[in-house]
Amino acid sequence: MGLLLKNGQAFIDGQLVKKDILIEGSKIAAIDTNIKTDNHEVIDCTNKIVSSGFIDVHVHLREPGFEYKEDIYSGTLAAAKGGFTTICAMPNTNPVPDDIKVVNDIHKLIDEKTVVNVRLYSAITKGEKHNAELVDFKALSNKVCAFSNDGYGIQDSLTMFRAMKEVKKYDQMIVAHCEDESLVFDGYVHDGQIAKDMGWKGISNLTEYIHIARDTAIAAETGAKYHVCHISTKESVAIVRDAKRRGVDVTAEVTPHHLVLTEEDVHSTLEKMNPPLRSKEDHKALIEGLLDGTIDFVATDHAPHSEEEKARGMEKAPNGIVGLETAFPLVYTYFTKHKLANIEQILSWFTHKPGERFHIGPQTLAIGETADITIVDLNMEKKIDRHAFFSKGKNSPFDGFICKGWPVMTIVAGKIIYQEV
Ligand code: DOR
Ligand code: ZN
Ligand code: ZN
Repeated sequence: MGLLLKNGQAFIDGQLVKKDILIEGSKIAAIDTNIKTDNHEVIDCTNKIVSSGFIDVHVHLREPGFEYKEDIYSGTLAAAKGGFTTICAMPNTNPVPDDIKVVNDIHKLIDEKTVVNVRLYSAITKGEKHNAELVDFKALSNKVCAFSNDGYGIQDSLTMFRAMKEVKKYDQMIVAHCEDESLVFDGYVHDGQIAKDMGWKGISNLTEYIHIARDTAIAAETGAKYHVCHISTKESVAIVRDAKRRGVDVTAEVTPHHLVLTEEDVHSTLEKMNPPLRSKEDHKALIEGLLDGTIDFVATDHAPHSEEEKARGMEKAPNGIVGLETAFPLVYTYFTKHKLANIEQILSWFTHKPGERFHIGPQTLAIGETADITIVDLNMEKKIDRHAFFSKGKNSPFDGFICKGWPVMTIVAGKIIYQEV
């Protein structure tokens, strides 16, 4: 027996249309107005959005090695609750996926434990270490979604140049955490007025955009595909905008937290992440960049840490916040409240935009496609309760925020894996 999603607003090729969706087995069997059937479970989707499943290309699942922060099961359950049916797992685990054996081993773990589709990144350098040899791009290219040393910037130009030459050869992509460590000066929050007032050590915008300037130049020279992680500064946006104009094959993602918060919201380690929450001017540039297409889509940088780690104080606590279970409602609520974007635009940032860049999907609802589907109730209003997260990480600065636009059902390959009760 399959499922019939009845009377919803279906998000098809970028448009919302009133259609029923019939699911048989793992596939979409029919999309039509008013489908009638006796032998399918009917899900009433009146006044709800029915979309292809959300895609998050930036998630830290922590397994193997840091299961006290998160594991594949808890992290992918959190993804399901957030409406994500496909996520890409960052390689800063222990061991680091930097050769075929570890990549295969982690894929095995994923197959045993996951509730959503997980694609794995390979590291760019062995162990994600500086001055280490490159991974074997040829051997890994058809096994991973892309190559990233997320958590760390690639410190020297030669390593980035060689890595880009490799991804160009194998039609793969570099996904870059942009941070010049020689310019960090022990900083841990944005280098702005708040840092000054509080006596905190700052991280300048330069730390990030100097890498984006360098990397877009190398991408122009090599013709490589290049994607910027968690873009955070106005200068970075300007550089990406200019590089796109010049035809460089560059894209960029922005996190929900950089879209919703600024340095003024930093009160505790729950607002500590890398890159840090930036100034009002940077925030404005990120929103403009997303709206004009300079920034391509949203990704969470879901970065769970334990309560004990986050209690170590501003200087010592690890960077990062969880994001999977709050991403869509935060972005939807912010952009509609300020009348900045319509629902179709917002959905595109969670579906076909990341899907197209990473060649992962399904990117829309279509007959014959795998039934990875997210149902959203735009009118449902709820208060975020970080202690109720499925994620082991409770490190969210959004506790108590009231949001609209909650995923209420997530379907992967025709099976309901999450349902709001
Ligand atoms: O805030 C962050 N957390 N930024 C990173 O680059 C790494 C991540 C993590 O792994 O915790
Ligand atoms: Zn990063
Ligand atoms: Zn990250």
